[in-house]
Amino acid sequence: MSNLAPIGVFDSGVGGLTVVKEIMNQIPDETIIYFGDTARLPYGSKSKETIITYTRQIIRFLMTKNVKAVVIACNTASAFALDTVKKEFDVPIIGVVKPGAKVAAETTKNGRIGVIGTEGTIQSGIYNDFLNKTNPQLKVYGKACPLFVPLVEEGLVDDSVTMEMARRYIGELLINDIDTLVLGCTHYPLLRNTIRKVVGDKVELVNPAYETAQALNVILKEKDLKSNGIPKTDHKFFVSDGADKFKKFANTILPCEVVETKDVNIENYSF
Ligand code: DGL
Repeated sequence: MSNLAPIGVFDSGVGGLTVVKEIMNQIPDETIIYFGDTARLPYGSKSKETIITYTRQIIRFLMTKNVKAVVIACNTASAFALDTVKKEFDVPIIGVVKPGAKVAAETTKNGRIGVIGTEGTIQSGIYNDFLNKTNPQLKVYGKACPLFVPLVEEGLVDDSVTMEMARRYIGELLINDIDTLVLGCTHYPLLRNTIRKVVGDKVELVNPAYETAQALNVILKEKDLKSNGIPKTDHKFFVSDGADKFKKFANTILPCEVVETKDVNIENYSF
């Protein structure tokens, strides 16, 4: 495996770009191959079996691009599929949940942590499991926010409708006196301003993307897969639907210019 091989990153849509942005900032000498499963979004309301099937197809697609490592930049797929696919492919695969839980445990002072995510992520209880393994005294309060992903995908990140939904969803968590809130879906950092207005300045917001990029860097070092120190710009972007819409959105988020996004029939990778 060449050290110059790219890193595969995927999500159900644009959310994983919040992780790509951190990877580009922290390890700019790595090349990214991104896949957004926009035709099959949202993942958050689907079954574990379905998400494992989708994850396998996407990793098979990324393997055709000769990736040297994969980042599952989606909490739902990390919760449901990471343990399974890790055993099936012989490249390192990391998710976003473990890094996010680690920062949350380090951040809280009063031991009361809120987690917002998709229905799948919250129902899986994965953040509770990781946080309680770190420290059994922690109190974890989860809340699924199913409308956040479609609002982000529609570009309504600063909108009164989004604000109203944020008040309803997060208001329920604030009565538990949390001092830390995990943005447990990679779409949610795009709603950071709205969420900040709802929680005020006494609650720390945890975005697992930063720690995930750090975890990726560590694993690349461990496996002797680090690139050559020269910043890269030849990143490639693929989606399962709506390439132009995705490209426009990506250009508002990423520090590099996304020149092209290609459509892929991801069902072709189900052999
Ligand atoms: N951004 C993803 C996550 O972190 C998935 C959102 C969805 O498709 O429901 O869970």
